[in-house]
Amino acid sequence: MIEEKEKTEEEEKQAESGETGLPIQKLAINFLTRFYIVFKILKLYAENNELIEEQTTLLMEDLNRLKAAEPEVKFRIKQESIFFNQQRLKFSLGNYHIFKFLLEEFRKREIGQLEFSPDIGRQELTRALAILCQKRTEAQPYEAIQAELQDNQITGLTLEKMQASERLLSPEKSSARLYFLSILHLREISERQKDNEKIRLNTTRRLIQSIFNHLIDNESFLLGLTNIKNHDEYTLNHSVNVSLLAIALGRRLGLSRVELVDLGLAAFFHDLGKIETPLEILNKPGQLTEEERKIMELHPHQGAEKLVQLKEFRRLPISAIHVAMEHHIKEDLSGYPHFKIKQDVNLYSRIVKVCDFFDAITTKRVYRKKVFTRAEALSLMLEQGRTEFNPVILKAFVQMMGIFPVGSVVLLNTGEIGLVTAVNQELKFLLRPRVKIIVDAAGNKIDGELVDLTEIDLENRKYKRTIVKEINPDEYGLNVADYFLAEAEA
Ligand SMILES: [Fe+2]
Ligand SMILES: [Fe+2]
Repeated sequence: MIEEKEKTEEEEKQAESGETGLPIQKLAINFLTRFYIVFKILKLYAENNELIEEQTTLLMEDLNRLKAAEPEVKFRIKQESIFFNQQRLKFSLGNYHIFKFLLEEFRKREIGQLEFSPDIGRQELTRALAILCQKRTEAQPYEAIQAELQDNQITGLTLEKMQASERLLSPEKSSARLYFLSILHLREISERQKDNEKIRLNTTRRLIQSIFNHLIDNESFLLGLTNIKNHDEYTLNHSVNVSLLAIALGRRLGLSRVELVDLGLAAFFHDLGKIETPLEILNKPGQLTEEERKIMELHPHQGAEKLVQLKEFRRLPISAIHVAMEHHIKEDLSGYPHFKIKQDVNLYSRIVKVCDFFDAITTKRVYRKKVFTRAEALSLMLEQGRTEFNPVILKAFVQMMGIFPVGSVVLLNTGEIGLVTAVNQELKFLLRPRVKIIVDAAGNKIDGELVDLTEIDLENRKYKRTIVKEINPDEYGLNVADYFLAEAEA
């Protein structure tokens, strides 16, 4: 997914257009960006409106540039991507929303390909787009659009129907894409921070909003994605995981949508201060010396400072500063940094503390002797209870994760091994989540079926399968994150 963003030099050279010198990629994306604007305003204004005239004139200019560079102007939707002729278009975070929008609108209309003929004029193009952008309620939207184009004698735009296999949008795939985009974005931010460049918080906010939307659709899958642990880029991965967990937890605690986006943002930046911590200390195997520990413990302060210094500081919720500063303060106000007078910790900091702790101890690190499985982590957290965490928040977290959180690997009484993919929320079924069978009774790794452990065998009236115990996937050579990613690729 990430590699889609990268261009090889060769590709870049090959694809330069003669006239403007701009890469074809750029010309095509410029065109689609304008297309998107026209598409949106045509929904609001009549075709002869001044604004429409102005924008369609610009659209024609973009189209002419494309025509000058390539003999054909054809856009095609294929596997979650938009192609211009043979080239897959590479959208960046800044224009990702445009890409998403177009993909969805084309999919709704079952349009798989659009081809602009060389002699299409501005008026014909405007008419065609006005037909395209109308809201479609027909059972066969594609056929309806075709008929209308014909009635209007439009020949400059030819459509092709989307193949049936392309018409279903896989939520898993787009969630996984979002996950990696978030990591990419945070990496960009860290690099810009180092170079004192401007950071685009608008993009961050949009990303967190999308995470929120996906979470509403498919919480289990997103929680599954937090099993992805990249040891080389620990802080990036960890920050995205904590942000996801915090939004999910905040939702359980009854926060509003606006509050959840603020919380997600705050969680996303909670360890920003670690940019300042030397890598030798961050990745040191074994115990830190007293001095090293002191440097490490500066990161809350450094993070808060960095956030305050951002040019776009005003766009940031004030709670982000609190969270950066307070996420290592315990419920009994011990922890670090140490405040002489401190009576209260921000609610968001308390939420992030729980998620931060959980994600940290379930991740393998060079200095951590033991990696906790997800269930072990929860039980440790419950034991540390009242001094470390806010009891209400911890309780909600444990309830959300279930006894066997999504991503746990469990041995079943049938001898099979299963991966927990969703928790059954009903209290009496907490021990009976839904699992995917990944190892059969004979010990072979398989791409097995998805089963619900509440299922009863009708003959003997007993449960078909029951969890015997949770097992450590490492010991069985199983990589949990791979299963979630495979699901997304399917
Ligand atoms: Fe931290
Ligand atoms: Fe952290």
